[in-house]
Amino acid sequence: MMWWYPLLLLVVLKCVSSAQNVHVKTPSGEIEGSTLTSRLGKTIYSFRGIRYAKAPINELRFKPPVPVENWNGTYNATADGPNCPQPATDPVSEDCLFLNVYTTKLPDGTNNPKRPVIVHIHPGGFYAFSGRSNWVGPQYLMDKEVVLVTLNYRLGALGFLSLGKESPGNYGLKDQVVALRWIQKNIEAFGGDPGSVTLHGYSAGAWSISLHMVALMSRGLFHKAILGSGAALGQWDLPYAQLDLAKKQAQIVGCPDTTPKEIIDCLRTVPAEKLGNSLFQFREFGSNPVLIWSPVVEDDYGQEPFLDEPALRLFRYGNFQKIPIMTGITKDEFAGLAVELVQNATLLKQLDDDFEKYAPICFFYERGTERSKDISRSIRDFYLGDEPLSNASLNGLSKIYKDIVGFPVDRAVELISRKSSKPIYYYEFTYQGRYSFYYLPGTNNTVPNGVAHHDDLLYLYYISIAFPFFGPNSPESKMIEKMTSMWAQFAKTGNPTIAGEVEWEPYSNDTKKYMEIGEKLTLKNNLSEERYALWRKLFPIFPKTVYYTF
Ligand SMILES: *[C@@H]1O[C@H](CO)[C@@H](O)[C@H](O)[C@H]1NC(C)=O
Ligand SMILES: *[C@@H]1O[C@H](CO)[C@@H](O)[C@H](O)[C@H]1NC(C)=O
Ligand SMILES: *[C@@H]1O[C@H](CO)[C@@H](O)[C@H](O)[C@H]1NC(C)=O
Ligand SMILES: *[C@@H]1O[C@H](CO)[C@@H](O)[C@H](O)[C@H]1NC(C)=O
Ligand SMILES: *[C@@H]1O[C@H](CO)[C@@H](O)[C@H](O)[C@H]1NC(C)=O
Ligand SMILES: *[C@@H]1O[C@H](CO)[C@@H](O)[C@H](O)[C@H]1NC(C)=O
Ligand SMILES: *[C@@H]1O[C@H](CO)[C@@H](O)[C@H](O)[C@H]1NC(C)=O
Repeated sequence: MMWWYPLLLLVVLKCVSSAQNVHVKTPSGEIEGSTLTSRLGKTIYSFRGIRYAKAPINELRFKPPVPVENWNGTYNATADGPNCPQPATDPVSEDCLFLNVYTTKLPDGTNNPKRPVIVHIHPGGFYAFSGRSNWVGPQYLMDKEVVLVTLNYRLGALGFLSLGKESPGNYGLKDQVVALRWIQKNIEAFGGDPGSVTLHGYSAGAWSISLHMVALMSRGLFHKAILGSGAALGQWDLPYAQLDLAKKQAQIVGCPDTTPKEIIDCLRTVPAEKLGNSLFQFREFGSNPVLIWSPVVEDDYGQEPFLDEPALRLFRYGNFQKIPIMTGITKDEFAGLAVELVQNATLLKQLDDDFEKYAPICFFYERGTERSKDISRSIRDFYLGDEPLSNASLNGLSKIYKDIVGFPVDRAVELISRKSSKPIYYYEFTYQGRYSFYYLPGTNNTVPNGVAHHDDLLYLYYISIAFPFFGPNSPESKMIEKMTSMWAQFAKTGNPTIAGEVEWEPYSNDTKKYMEIGEKLTLKNNLSEERYALWRKLFPIFPKTVYYTF
C-alpha cells in the first residue's frame, strides 16, 4: 500500500514551492517571484530581475532601448539582475535593463488593492549604483501600503555617449521611460495603481525626474515626484553633445579620438566592462568632478528625442508637468570632498594657487572664459575671504560643496512654484545618525562628517551593500518610521503631512517655507537665502554670454 507515497511527495513539494514562491499573471506574461520579510515582519512579494527591454548589446549598444515582447511560460524573477557596467561593483553586465517589483498585497481575483506606486530612480552620478535589492532594499518602505519598483538604466558612456548624429544620447533616460511604460502596462497585476505613480529619484535620479517633467516622451507616465538632492536646473543648462567626453573616453580605452564616426565605431568594439571600469580615469582633480556624463538636449536627426529644448528654459516658461512635488537636500551634501581637499596638501596648494582653474572643475560651471574667472573670484571672496587656503578653509569649502547640490534644487523649487498651482514641499534633512555615506578620515568609519549626500536614503531603503539592517529596536527605527510614513503619505495623497506631526506647509514665493527633518520636524523659512542669492546672481537663467555671443 505504498501507491500514495509519490502523491504525498508531490503535494508536499507543491506546498513548499507555493510557500516560498509566488506567481503573478501580467499582460506581458506570467512571472514567478519569491518572498522577503519587511522590517516589521510583513511578507513582501518580491519580483526581481524582470527584463523590461531587450539586452542593449551588439547592434543595440548606443541605441534607444527596445521594449520586451510578451512572453509565454513563466519568467523566473527570483533573483536580481546584474548592475549596469560601472567601476568597483559586482556583478556587472551590459545586459542590465531589469527592474524589481515589491508588494505586500496582490490582487485576489475579486479585489485589487490598487496601491500607490513608488518608482525609485537610483543615484550615482549617471555612472554608478543600481536598482538591485542590495542597493535599494524594500524592507523598510514595504511596511507602508505602497508598491515599490526599482530599476536599472544604462550608465556612463553606454548610457550617455552623445556625439550628435552618430549618437544622439540620453539612452539611460530613454531606458527609464521604457521602464515607466512597462509599469503602466503591468503594475495593476501586482496590486499597484497605474494612475498613482510617484517617482522618487535621488541625485542623478532626481536630475532624471526634473527632465521627465519636461520630456514629451514621459507625459502621462507619472503623477507625483520626489526629487532628493538633485535637479538638472543649476549653474548651467544641459549641453547639446558631449564630444570632449567622448574623445576622452576614446583615449582612455585606446580608440581613435578623431571623428564621431571613428570614435563610435571603435567604442562599439570595446568590452562594456572596460568602459564601465574606466570611469574614475575621468577625474581631473582629486575626486573631482563628481559629475561626468550628463543628459543632453538632442538636436533633430530624425530620432525620437527625449529632450529637444533646454530644460531651464522649459521650466522658466512653465512648459513642465504640473504635479505635486517634494524636494530637498541634506545638511552637508558633498562636504566630504572639502575634507579631501584640505587634508591633501598637494591639492590644497593647487587650488590655492589657481582657484580660477580648479574651482569650475570642482563646482560645475563653464571653464576658461572671462565669465568663469569672474564667477570663481566671486565664489572665493564670498565663501573663503582673502586668506590663503588652509585647514581653516574647511568650513567655507564645505559650504560650497553643499551649495552645488542645494542651489539647483532651490532653483527648481523657485521655478516650479512660480508656474505650478500644485504644491511643492521643500525640506532639509539634518538628522545625523550613527551611519553615513561619508565618515571623517582616520575614524575607522565611526564618525560621520555631518549629514552627507545620500544619508537620508538610509531611512527609506535597506542598503545592505554598505550598512547593517536596522531592526525595530535599533536607534534608527524612529527615523525610519518617520521617513517611510512621510514618503508613503505623499505617494498616496500628494501631501507628506503625517498624523501627530507638524503640518507641512508647501513652499511659496513669499513665505519660502521648508521643513527641517531632524530629530523633530520643524517648519522654517528662507533656506540658505543669502547664499543662494549669490548663485542666482552669478548664474542667471539667461546668461548674456551664452545667448549673445554669435
Ligand atoms: C507564444 O505562444 C503563441 C501561441 O502559441 C505564439 O503564437 C507566440 O509566437 C509565442 N510567443 C513567443 C514569444 O514565443
Ligand atoms: C530561478 O532562478 C534562480 C536564481 O537564478 C534559480 O536558483 C532557480 O532554480 C530558478 N527557478 C526555476 C524554476 O528555474
Ligand atoms: C593627494 O591627491 C593626489 C591627487 O588626487 C593623489 O595622487 C595623492 O595620493 C593624494 N595624497 C594623499 C596624501 O592622499
Ligand atoms: C590640516 O589638518 C590635517 C589633519 O586634520 C593635518 O594632517 C594637516 O597637516 C593640516 N594641514 C595644515 C596645512 O595645517
Ligand atoms: C577598524 O574597525 C575594524 C572592525 O571593527 C577593526 O577590525 C580594525 O582594527 C579597526 N581599525 C582601526 C585602525 O582602528
Ligand atoms: C517672488 O518673490 C520675489 C521677492 O522675494 C519677487 O521679486 C518676485 O517678483 C516674486 N515672483 C513672483 C512670480 O511672484
Ligand atoms: C525671509 O526672507 C525675506 C526676504 O527675502 C524676509 O522678508 C523675511 O523676513 C525672512 N523671513 C524669515 C523668517 O527670516
